Amino acid sequence: MKNIGVLISGGGTNLQALIDAQGNVLKSGRIVCVCSNNADAYGLERAKKAGIPTKVIRKKADCGGDGDEFSRRICEYMKEMQVDIIVLAGFMAIFGGELLKEYADRIINIHPSLIPSFCGEGMYGLHPHEAALKYGVKVTGATVHLVNDVVDGGKILMQKAVYIEDGDTPEILQKRVMEQAEWKILPQAVEMICKGE
Ligand code: GAR
Repeated sequence: MKNIGVLISGGGTNLQALIDAQGNVLKSGRIVCVCSNNADAYGLERAKKAGIPTKVIRKKADCGGDGDEFSRRICEYMKEMQVDIIVLAGFMAIFGGELLKEYADRIINIHPSLIPSFCGEGMYGLHPHEAALKYGVKVTGATVHLVNDVVDGGKILMQKAVYIEDGDTPEILQKRVMEQAEWKILPQAVEMICKGE
């Protein structure tokens, strides 16, 4: 059984999908802690409701805006909680340094597009959906990948396509991509990594 640490920044619906998958889709790992870089993230409430320990580490307020310190502090907490695998579930900060080094090939991210489309710096949250609609693609989706030092550039683990429909707004599309792709492939990919496949 692997220990999973989840990093979040906001609503935490992907965290919820992981919590709900425990014991069914997610059999080889259990969530031991949730860390947020935003004290107001609703995902923290979801974790508390599920009895999972939480911590807030903010880059500016707690680390003086120092990226290396931010990475070191998160790494320290993950080690303290004996985390084996880190999942970025809507984590909106970019980090390098110690965390990336210590957890190389053991950090998983969910991105709301089919990489290599609509990804990279600045492409987070609603932005990939805005870009997909602006470009006029007919299919988008979600990607689960390993995290390395290139933003959204690590090895792809799983992808799922979602059709764009007439009248889609970024918000409508975001919801469909979450429901049809993200909440399904994230628990599956985390299980795959926990199982060592
Ligand atoms: C999700 O759509 C996730 O894929 C995306 O932010 C949303 C978070 O929602 N992540 C990124 O854009 C990371 N680059 P959630 O907090 O409800 O899981």
